[in-house]
Amino acid sequence: MQSKITKKPSATITVNNKQLELPVYGGSVGPDVVDIRKLYAQTGVFTFDPGFTSTASCESQITYIDGDEGVLLYRGYPIDQLAEHSSFLEVCYLLANGELPNTAEYQRFAKDITYHTMLHAQFDRFFEGFRRDAHPMAIMVGTVGALAAFYHDSTDINDPVQRTIASHRLIAKMPTIAARAFKYSIGQPFVSPRNELDYASNFLRMCFAVPAEDYKVNPVLARAMDVFFILHADHEQNASTSTVRLAGSSGANPFACISSGIACLWGPAHGGANEAALNMLEEIGHVDNIPEFIRRVKDPNDDVRLMGFGHRVYKNYDPRAKAMQKLCHAVLKETGGLDNPTLKVAMELEKIALSDEYFVSRKLYPNIDFYSGITLRAMGFPTSMFTVLFAVARTVGWIAQWTEMMEDESQKIGRPRQVYTGAPKRDYVALDRR
Ligand code: ACO
Repeated sequence: MQSKITKKPSATITVNNKQLELPVYGGSVGPDVVDIRKLYAQTGVFTFDPGFTSTASCESQITYIDGDEGVLLYRGYPIDQLAEHSSFLEVCYLLANGELPNTAEYQRFAKDITYHTMLHAQFDRFFEGFRRDAHPMAIMVGTVGALAAFYHDSTDINDPVQRTIASHRLIAKMPTIAARAFKYSIGQPFVSPRNELDYASNFLRMCFAVPAEDYKVNPVLARAMDVFFILHADHEQNASTSTVRLAGSSGANPFACISSGIACLWGPAHGGANEAALNMLEEIGHVDNIPEFIRRVKDPNDDVRLMGFGHRVYKNYDPRAKAMQKLCHAVLKETGGLDNPTLKVAMELEKIALSDEYFVSRKLYPNIDFYSGITLRAMGFPTSMFTVLFAVARTVGWIAQWTEMMEDESQKIGRPRQVYTGAPKRDYVALDRR
């Protein structure tokens, strides 16, 4: 990656009575950064930023978020325009290559992805090793990491051709693995990918077709799946992407790195939130129960949170949530679920939260997960699959970020430090004298 950082007037700090001038850099849009790389060498102190709330960990040219304004851009293109007009594969190309493809580039890319959708036949035996009640995310973490054992001809991270092949394999095989994790959990036979179908339709078919019947992909649901994938495709340096970059910084192979991203995504504060949000909405059950639930959320002695609300970066409406709400209505209309009590609870909860002082003062707005659970449930997915679908979509973001890091020659192994508050040096005491 060619650095596009620009120099700005420097900043000065005083540490231990020593004044230090620190370089300041700017990007194309967004906040400037203070370069503290030499701080420790020159002053002997570290910066302290657990949770990385004020830390830019890298230079990136992929995704931009303005959390205060509720803006999300992939390579400069607003997410709502991409969700309205684009397709997921086009967005994959954009994230991976930096520009929207022309027709020939698109066709070539779509072919490359389509022809990598199958899995090694022996790979299917992996799934049988899992218990039937295994969470599909547990299966994803294990099997995606195991891709390195099957496709080691694309694990040389220093070879750009192998990196591209690994990227195509990951984008292409992730839906096949996800569909198998689903089929395995419900005891149905695996369905092979079909090359004549588009990415989302192929995925839905692998999830829902059974040998006993013909399966016709519903175009409304296929488009909804595609838009869901677009909305989740990348989100700059979030927890799972930072995990992928940190794993990759040691030189680990891309399959291992993506597997680490899946593991991080699983948590309820990140990708697991859509599952948690739907569980919460169903637990509330009826609009009459909302006031009591809101009371508990606001009670500082109760650790109940309004799942699907709040975001580390967005202090405004998550722009993806708007598109997801639209998608939710389209899917429920198609599947005849507009009277769905969960939707009613969600809409009422959103209305109350957007006017309640507790949420307003903390800038807690609906995030993408608030409506995605209802949408996915209406499409026929069980809650345990929600985070898996997120992982399928985010794979391209992880791989684009990993590739960008690999192409950045200034990249070093990620190695944060700490402020140590444990015991100072002390001498060992023999067991019989303790
Ligand atoms: N419900 C109720 N109160 C909340 C919520 C919530 N969902 N989120 C934050 N708050 C409150 C906190 O209690 C805190 O209040 P206080 O100042 O009185 O102590 C204040 O808002 C700030 O909260 P933090 O936890 O410091 O905010 P942070 O930026 O660290 O957290 C997070 C962001 C983890 C997303 C949080 O908002 C949350 O837990 N949300 C619910 C889970 C969720 O929906 N996650 C999905 C994120 S989007 C994604 O991963 C795709």
